[in-house]
Amino acid sequence: MSEDDAGDRDITLTDGSGEVEETTSKRSKRFEALDERAITEDGFVNEWPEVGFVAMESPNDPDPSVTVEDGQIVEMDGKDRDEFDFIDRFIADYAINTEKAEEAVGVDSQTFARKLVDINVPREEIVELSTAMTPAKLVDVVNYLDTAEIIMAMKKMRTRQTPGNQCHVTSVKDNVAQIAADAAEAGLRGFYEAENTVGVARMAPLTALAQQIGAQCGRGGVITQCAVEEATELELGMRGMTGYAETVSVYGTEDVFKDGDDTPWSKAFLASGYASRGLKMRYTSGAGSELNMGQAEGKSMFYLETRCILVTKGCGVQGLQNGGISCIAIPTSVPAGVKEVAAENLVTMMADLEVASGNDQTFTHSDKRRTARMMPQFLAGTDFIFSGYSAVPNYDNMFAGSTFDSYDFDEYNIMQRDLQVEGGTKPVDEETVLEHRERAAKALQIVFEELGFPPISDEEVEAAVYADGSKDMPQRSTAEDIKAAEEMMEEGITGADIVTILAQNGFEGIAENMLGMLKGRVAGDYIQTSSVFLGDGDFDVISAVNDPNEYQGPGTGHRLEDGAWEEKKNVRFAVDPEDI
Ligand code: 5AD
Ligand code: CA
Repeated sequence: MSEDDAGDRDITLTDGSGEVEETTSKRSKRFEALDERAITEDGFVNEWPEVGFVAMESPNDPDPSVTVEDGQIVEMDGKDRDEFDFIDRFIADYAINTEKAEEAVGVDSQTFARKLVDINVPREEIVELSTAMTPAKLVDVVNYLDTAEIIMAMKKMRTRQTPGNQCHVTSVKDNVAQIAADAAEAGLRGFYEAENTVGVARMAPLTALAQQIGAQCGRGGVITQCAVEEATELELGMRGMTGYAETVSVYGTEDVFKDGDDTPWSKAFLASGYASRGLKMRYTSGAGSELNMGQAEGKSMFYLETRCILVTKGCGVQGLQNGGISCIAIPTSVPAGVKEVAAENLVTMMADLEVASGNDQTFTHSDKRRTARMMPQFLAGTDFIFSGYSAVPNYDNMFAGSTFDSYDFDEYNIMQRDLQVEGGTKPVDEETVLEHRERAAKALQIVFEELGFPPISDEEVEAAVYADGSKDMPQRSTAEDIKAAEEMMEEGITGADIVTILAQNGFEGIAENMLGMLKGRVAGDYIQTSSVFLGDGDFDVISAVNDPNEYQGPGTGHRLEDGAWEEKKNVRFAVDPEDI
């Protein structure tokens, strides 16, 4: 065979009679087997920086620079003030500590990057300058880190020392009894926050109510949200049906903001609506949204996301959910995309903000790849490692499915046990789960009865206790429930009314917990950066204020030990060696 023939693998197949059936390339059986693997169903694209198909380091990303005159930024990242778009202007005026901006932009980026992973440099020293950096400077610094270094830096830089987790509690049928039971189970499993959204928009008041009652039955202090259209979401919060909000979106280019009829100022106004009512809130952004809208201006996803982080900072909001989020399939389709989403989590921490670090929406068919994607946040620990671990089967997940769901509960607990890492969930026993699911569904049943809403039958309660998902639930009329939801909003029913009903009907414990949530809003402690409630009905706030991250190398910072470690060891499959 000549060298010219070496690449020519065409062979001719015949049907036995000598007739030619087809001409095909002879395939490697190895490659044929590989073609059957789940990973081949994922989408991968090559970089195309001109339109923004690049995770990090686009040639069009600006170089860092800043000039401050009379306390005002007059030049930033290569643009004079009169060339600023509204995002540049907002960031320059509200997000950057101008007193230190010139010093911060002047430091050598590699030297600063090394400080991020240097255990001898405390977090506060980093934050002093990182909160004075321009978007291009933050990007320039973090571009020096590889993934292992990003993990090291996250370990030091997250604001709250104790890591945590957030879950999704949704039902494809918006079944309220199921939502209440699943929220109770999620509370028991250790999630600090639970988030709901709906199949049918007008169901939101009822699903929010069901989730809140269930959550307070699982563990007094689980904070809940219902992600719907912004005005409804704010109203549900003001009524006391939810305790926080998260899905207020910000974007990295002006055109995308304008397409949503928004500006950084309008978002800041919305945020103040929450703060003024003592409600916790964070924004949402994440790599890929600008590219998704075809308006990435040829910039890298990382640079644009860093702008989102600083818009959030400028709005005075305490935290951000980022890491691709609903756009995760976009960064993960290009090289270094998974590294990039970890990098954007890190920059959020460097901006001294709470981070709910993604790992929520499904982006891959491969079990190995979805596990690898969450390793940086899992190993480092973040405020919320998953900003949406699906506490229901993915078929019920109304956020389009999460990377980990209820079928992964045991595996996720065992990963924490294997690596002695706090992942924010814990093992539970079946009996306790059933008890709490029952109490939650029965509490909701009484509330519906007292409010004259469509009855939740005993059969439904029973099904909700034992259900895996909505497929195990009897049919319920959504039309009737929607009428009740509208009534609830029209009649001005509030969280306080629900507390009264629960207290008068034998559910004092849940009533106390729900009242605790409302009191929490009056006290306002849980609107501090990275706040969550500890305990069961104790409403002890831990936050960046009273639980600041003091990690400085081996033997410091958060360690999985003592009671929390004992709980983690106790997976339900473990046997005593003496018994074998
Ligand atoms: N950028 C901005 N907002 C996002 N959301 C999700 N992903 C992003 C992103 N990459 C918000 C949207 C969505 C909700 C689930 O979170 O508002 O509706
Ligand atoms: Ca979320």
